[in-house]
Amino acid sequence: MSTAYKIIDHRYDVVVVGAGGAGLRASLGMAEKGLTTACITKVFPTRSHTVAAQGGISASLGNMGPDDWRWHRYDTVKGSDWLGDQDAIEYLCREAVPAIIELEHYGVPFSRTEEGKIYQRPFGGMTTNYGEGIAQRTCAVADRTGHAILHTLYQQSLKNQAEFFIEYFALDLIMDDEGECRGVMALNMTDGTLHRFSTHMVVLATGGYGRTYFSATSAHTCTGDGNGMVLRAGLSLQDMEFVQFHPTGIYGSGCLITEGTRGEGGYLANSEGERFMERYAPNAKDLASRDVVSRAMTMEIREGRGVGEQKDHIDLHLEHLSADIINERLPSIAQLARIFAGIDVTKEPIPVLPTVHYNMGGIPTNHYGEVVCLKEGNPERVVRGLMAIGECACVSVHGANRLGSNSLLDIIVFGRAAAIRCAQLLARRAPHHPLPKNAGEVTLARLDKLRYANGSHNTADIRLQMQRVMQEHAAVFRTGETLQEGVQKMTDVFNSFSDVKITDRSLIWNSDLIETLELDNLLGQAVVAINSALNRTESRGAHAREDYPKRDDENWLKHTLAWLDAQGQVSIDYRPVHMYTLTNDVEVIPPKARVY
Ligand code: FUM
Repeated sequence: MSTAYKIIDHRYDVVVVGAGGAGLRASLGMAEKGLTTACITKVFPTRSHTVAAQGGISASLGNMGPDDWRWHRYDTVKGSDWLGDQDAIEYLCREAVPAIIELEHYGVPFSRTEEGKIYQRPFGGMTTNYGEGIAQRTCAVADRTGHAILHTLYQQSLKNQAEFFIEYFALDLIMDDEGECRGVMALNMTDGTLHRFSTHMVVLATGGYGRTYFSATSAHTCTGDGNGMVLRAGLSLQDMEFVQFHPTGIYGSGCLITEGTRGEGGYLANSEGERFMERYAPNAKDLASRDVVSRAMTMEIREGRGVGEQKDHIDLHLEHLSADIINERLPSIAQLARIFAGIDVTKEPIPVLPTVHYNMGGIPTNHYGEVVCLKEGNPERVVRGLMAIGECACVSVHGANRLGSNSLLDIIVFGRAAAIRCAQLLARRAPHHPLPKNAGEVTLARLDKLRYANGSHNTADIRLQMQRVMQEHAAVFRTGETLQEGVQKMTDVFNSFSDVKITDRSLIWNSDLIETLELDNLLGQAVVAINSALNRTESRGAHAREDYPKRDDENWLKHTLAWLDAQGQVSIDYRPVHMYTLTNDVEVIPPKARVY
């Protein structure tokens, strides 16, 4: 079956794909600089997944005690288990301060101290004086920080005339024969029309791929659509084996309970009532970094000290906190615990379990947000016309493990950086030249093929199988054996997609077809993630191999790059971590043992 699709053409200086915090900060910045800016978004902007970010955004403002961006930088390098690029981390931590002040001026309603300064709470792995004390560095809007940021940025973007294409599903990048990105194809899911955007710069801000897993704090919309487009364009993804498990997803639903609960004095306990983090991280305890806490919880459960009938989860205690703290600082948590766990946090602990939360890996970029094309031994080459920011990007400031509250920071700092860079690049731009006549045809053929697919597996079944394989075979702890088995099963799942059956062929947003397009994106990412994990024979950050329990800097201080062909074959290469700084103001932080 083949349909003659009518295409509606558009032309903008910049096209941002995604309207979460990164996409909105970039759209706002581009529009402020006078660039004609389109923002294409799958969901209404204020429903993007940033809305679910609770605990806060880090910056060494020093409002609650001494702080310094260099200490923040140290914590981030250490948190990354030395896989983070040190030039990019320097940029992140230094730019955090002006970026947050700007957010305040845009109107983000931060919680306040008695003196009226932005309130900051402790978060995992954030320290003073290079690991000596606990820093209060995470700027919060109670426990609704993402929500507040998203609303502010959307309003500011509208004020600056950014144009929004809402409920448009981005289908593919338009690449030319020289490997330059020239635009993007999208489907308007409200009326089924097809749109071809021609632009000087596509900025991908499409978020993570948490939904490759069965249980995740991520929204069901987190299907890594930008990453899927990048793989189809023949570009690589980087460090896909590094998947963060947040220690406190609500048992059963996976809904996030912010690390801010522990920042405000909450603690984890096992079935013996023991505050077991004291054994695993004697200094930071419950505020050790997430990979450390998630592993500790998993060990407690494995050793029979889990709570509940099945002894398969852990208690998070907040009952000892005052009503003022709960009401002022953690109001949504009390509500979420009531709705999703049926408990009153002032009387009972919240049942929690490590849950997939964040992807450290993604589209490789430099610290300007420009996508780079890499192969070991070759110099980094910028892919012209393409940027990536936020969770879909791997810049890489989080390396092997992200610190809590560094992701809201990442989206703001690099959304802003992309706008600054884009304005510089486009100041000397050539006139807009038309797209080749056949631009987007490959995409329409793919759309048509999926739309009329009439195989024997339905989309939901394939998705469930993929999620179960990832959940079982690429979990908090991994071994060569479980990963090898996972790779085999994932290959089978990937192959089953060529026999998919679509029942609802409508081009409208809640159809089977849209979920199938999302699944197509997810599958590619799941395949590269599990293959990348099998190949990395060491333990670093969130990648904990029981058969290779140690970090191996001699052989593995390098980023994984993975490509995927149409048959599902993965090719893998590596490139060195940037062990250099951006300026002479600081020195490289050499690898050392990571203890909390
Ligand atoms: O725990 C949280 O509030 C999540 C924050 C983050 O992932 O940065």
